[in-house]
Amino acid sequence: METREQWRSRLGFILAASGSAVGLGNLWGFAYRASQGGGAAFLLLYILIVLVVCLPVLVAEMVLGRSTGTSALLAPIKAAGNKWAPLGWLFIIAPLGIGSYYAVLMGWTLDTFLHSLFLGLPANMSEAETFFGSISSGSSVLLGQIVSLLLTAVVVSAGIRGGIERLSRWGVPILFALLVILALWAATLTGTWEGYRTFLLKIDTSQFFNPSTIRNAFTQAFFSLSLGIGIMVTYSSYLDRRKQLPKEALSVASLDTSVGLLAGMVTFPIVMSFGLKDVISGSTVGTLFISLPTGLGTLGATGRVVAVLFFALAYIAAITSSISLLEVPVSSLMDKLGWSRSKAVFASTAFLFIIGIPSAMNLNILGKMDSVFGGVLLILGGFVLSIFLGWIVPRRFDDDLSGCESDKRVRRYLKFMLRWVSPPAIAFGLIVSVIDLFKSWSA
Ligand code: PFF
Repeated sequence: METREQWRSRLGFILAASGSAVGLGNLWGFAYRASQGGGAAFLLLYILIVLVVCLPVLVAEMVLGRSTGTSALLAPIKAAGNKWAPLGWLFIIAPLGIGSYYAVLMGWTLDTFLHSLFLGLPANMSEAETFFGSISSGSSVLLGQIVSLLLTAVVVSAGIRGGIERLSRWGVPILFALLVILALWAATLTGTWEGYRTFLLKIDTSQFFNPSTIRNAFTQAFFSLSLGIGIMVTYSSYLDRRKQLPKEALSVASLDTSVGLLAGMVTFPIVMSFGLKDVISGSTVGTLFISLPTGLGTLGATGRVVAVLFFALAYIAAITSSISLLEVPVSSLMDKLGWSRSKAVFASTAFLFIIGIPSAMNLNILGKMDSVFGGVLLILGGFVLSIFLGWIVPRRFDDDLSGCESDKRVRRYLKFMLRWVSPPAIAFGLIVSVIDLFKSWSA
């Protein structure tokens, strides 16, 4: 038997896992959800959910991957027998569902980047809308989707060290640096404080009880951390026993949350400075691709440079996430059917392309895919995972962590949270989200 691939270093794993977490969800999803009216209540709920509810589940997901040393499809079976096979299937279906429309969003990002670089920015709202209409329909949307899938496939076929780790090692630091530069620049705009205040600081306590705000906060937390659907199981299956998982999980969650906040510090000042609040509050999936270029368009050359940098960094962020989505089915096919990496990459990429076509052709379908696969299913996965490692195979959690985490208090705290806090909190989030989702569909 061939030995399983391994990460080259601890930093490599952290950067790859953070690369998966940091993606369009932080740049596009955060702006999109934060602007739907939740304000600081959304932000606080989101941070609270990450720290209290998600962190223990993130450690649990890592434990499942490392302790079984196998892919997401097979890990639940290896840990607790065949009756847990459906969890493995959930781990395959959800990343495939997300991967299918994620490539479409990546295509839009690439188009906007190229357009800003070579042709410049739209002169006004209506030009921006026309431009968005052109990239989100017809053959250009398919082209963007195919190019993005192919780039993702090239990286994944180069393997864990040679592809995923190598890209994350330079991609994540570069995107972080670019984002800090842009946030500093945005701090000098005239509407900066207004932007921070309106979207990030204004607390309206009634929003804590608004089901849409609660759903947005749960969705943002799980989506942004790539949590609940086998990504972290897969990445951790390439880890050795010495790594201290709680520390790795904390690093990933901190980096991911900082990127979300930094992205808000870039997008909201721009929105406020250029009077685009109405556009963004009618938030649709296209918001970022319409409002940002329009705002920046009024700034001449500086605006164009900022747009190029922003969409470049968004693309880097997206590709370090899409490789993680592809790696889940790839590693599962390799483990289950004994396929070579390239064969598994080819089959999974072709499949992703085909199931992504409806989202590419129809914005409504894309939105629905995002609410189901990128929302409810992740929260459901997180719930099942917390029950699985907290109650079904709790010994596995203890044994794996006692090998690497010497501080008993940390282990005890995580176990307690995983058993008693995460399941009811996630169940609550799940119920509210499902009801709110159906309501929004029937509205
Ligand atoms: N976390 C990524 C983002 O925020 O864009 C996207 C993502 C990747 C979501 C992998 C879910 C996932 F399993």
